[in-house]
Amino acid sequence: MKNFDYNEPIIEVLLNKHSHLRIMTDFLNNKEKPKVLEFGVARGSSTTAFLWYLEKTEGKLFSVDIVDYSKVHNSKNWKFLQSNDLHSDYILEKFDEIKKNGVDLIYIDSYHENHHVLKLLNIWFKYLKKDGAIFIDDIDSFSFKKKKQIWHSIVYDLTDDAIKKFHYNNVEKTLYTKYLANLPFCAENGLGKIYKLVDFNEEANPSKKIWEYNPILKMIYPLLRKIKQLLSF
Ligand SMILES: C[S@@+](CC[C@H](N)C(=O)[O-])C[C@H]1O[C@@H](n2cnc3c(N)ncnc32)[C@H](O)[C@@H]1O
Repeated sequence: MKNFDYNEPIIEVLLNKHSHLRIMTDFLNNKEKPKVLEFGVARGSSTTAFLWYLEKTEGKLFSVDIVDYSKVHNSKNWKFLQSNDLHSDYILEKFDEIKKNGVDLIYIDSYHENHHVLKLLNIWFKYLKKDGAIFIDDIDSFSFKKKKQIWHSIVYDLTDDAIKKFHYNNVEKTLYTKYLANLPFCAENGLGKIYKLVDFNEEANPSKKIWEYNPILKMIYPLLRKIKQLLSF
């Protein structure tokens, strides 16, 4: 376990023990020279926080964004590639270290739609080392439900369902932990963590449909329960 002075005033977000970025850097604590693959750079908040940690631990950050954000940082521990994150052949050709040795942590914070997140999980799971984890940002719709924002609520709920589906499809290969929105402590919208139990290069299972009951039954269940009770008298 490494001990850091998180009070260094450089990266404010890491001061908060409940923040997503701190949860992720804490996860890296028992990794030697950790390797991180990040999808989605934009303002560079996550990039900067990861690099703060990785510079101290002789680690490396590989970041991919569809837009050119190569000027966000100038760290020697950082490699940036402009690409769609689904284009794995191209990314692995440029980041051949990932293809050879895998990474300890993958952070998905790019295109927040369920079908995209599910594809990313299925593609990139293979390149995660054993006991590594894929973290997925924005999986809890609570803050949108508070504001009665329908579409955002649906998008986040569908992403949440997609991650659950991935976990159930790979139930013998993964552990799934979900960090729900914790608004008083940090204004973030939930974080998913898929922990890999199997070796680097082991792929995700082929996607299978998981049986689900008709959701209308859930809505009318209290009524059905009453009817069942009445009939049993
Ligand atoms: C929410 S922002 C990332 C925020 C960043 N992680 C941070 O903490 O500041 C999403 C980013 O994903 C990028 N993006 C969207 N779709 C993408 C895709 N298919 N492949 C790669 N990057 C994508 C966008 O250009 C945008 O920069």
